[in-house]
Amino acid sequence: MKIEDNQEIYIENVSVTELAETYGTPTYVYEENRIRENYRRADRAFRKYYENFKFYYAIKANSNPAVAHILREEGAGIDAASINEILLARELGIDGEDVVFSGNYLSDDDIEQGLSSGVIFNLDDVSLLERLLRIGKPEILSFRVNPGYGRSNVGDFVTNAGPAAKFGIHPDDVLAAYKAAKKAGITRFGAHMMPGSCVNDPEYFAHITALLMDIIGKVGRELNIDFEFIDLGGGLGIPYSPDELPLDIEMTAARIADVFTEKLKEYGLKPPRLVMEPARYFVGDAGYLIGRVHSIKRSYSVIIGTDVGMNILARPAMYGAYHHIYVNGREHASCVREKVDLCGQICENTDYWVKNRELPKGIAEGDLVVVENAGAYGYCMSYQYNGRLKPAEVLVNGAQHYQIRERESFSDVVSGTHIPDHLRPA
Ligand SMILES: Cc1ncc(COP(=O)(O)O)c(C=O)c1O
Repeated sequence: MKIEDNQEIYIENVSVTELAETYGTPTYVYEENRIRENYRRADRAFRKYYENFKFYYAIKANSNPAVAHILREEGAGIDAASINEILLARELGIDGEDVVFSGNYLSDDDIEQGLSSGVIFNLDDVSLLERLLRIGKPEILSFRVNPGYGRSNVGDFVTNAGPAAKFGIHPDDVLAAYKAAKKAGITRFGAHMMPGSCVNDPEYFAHITALLMDIIGKVGRELNIDFEFIDLGGGLGIPYSPDELPLDIEMTAARIADVFTEKLKEYGLKPPRLVMEPARYFVGDAGYLIGRVHSIKRSYSVIIGTDVGMNILARPAMYGAYHHIYVNGREHASCVREKVDLCGQICENTDYWVKNRELPKGIAEGDLVVVENAGAYGYCMSYQYNGRLKPAEVLVNGAQHYQIRERESFSDVVSGTHIPDHLRPA
């Protein structure tokens, strides 16, 4: 994104005015080149320090097929959270062991379909093993370990490791899980954890890698298991607010590889494939959300009403996430600023997505607002509450732009519903 001298904001080489006029608002826009750069930077760094390395893109963060195809072209496998994400991966041409299935609290149906698709299970609990084995025996199996510690940049809400997390197997139960799987005749193994969410500190990744390796190392040594892969999950952070520093990916890869190889030696494990399954790092800062100001209320505070609300971008209302925003045409260095709130159009008072923030004074009806870092956990978490429609998605490459998802219409609001005959008007 860049702001030109006339204060017009460009996403790659396309102005947001052109995008809004062509596709309407609200619209998610993704920069193809940024996604590729993000992937290549990270892939280069990890391969430099540990050659046998692979990324599985966690497609939950942005499941638009065009976006996922970019990452497929770059060489990523897919981390799937559900059967439909496995099916989506297959539509992209990615299947079998290029897909890891890290769903949690799986139903028998999930297990059955997961098994028949030939993907790699990251089982979230040992209780699932018995059910899995009743249905079939996978070629290769991995358990999701909760290393007992986790960190997130959006408070406790998004902690996906540690005592407060619903995910993963308690460190004390991991050995028994692998023992049971081995006893059942499974011969190929991996191991998995999700280390945290949006962490920008290389030392954190080194620390949590050591925690996992101490758990897994003992399993390998005691049960004589040669792990085929060890999957360190996602959680590579991006800066959301201007005062945060970006993650030093080179340092992160170097520190992870250091600890990883040290621990392999300590526990006498054969070097497995090192896997990570990030999403935010690839797509987060490559995505923007363009919205429009529709009405302004000067009351207890200045409330700018936009068509971006909790239904379009759920993160702020859901867990207090910060998104930096720009107002098109008004962002000159010396502009006077005033504190305002921004809200959406939903009938809930949690539908504020910016509170008490300094934005250029003089914002007017019709202005376009551009939300940064909207490429991950944006569109995929939008919903239809209040009969509001899910937004459009657009991919930009240089001066070219492509609609990659249509805005919903009224037919989507009633799609799939049925009215019993006795309720139909005569
Ligand atoms: C199992 C698993 N892997 C990978 C990811 C991707 O995380 P991130 O976007 O923080 O890289 C998530 C996100 O919730 C996850 O649950």
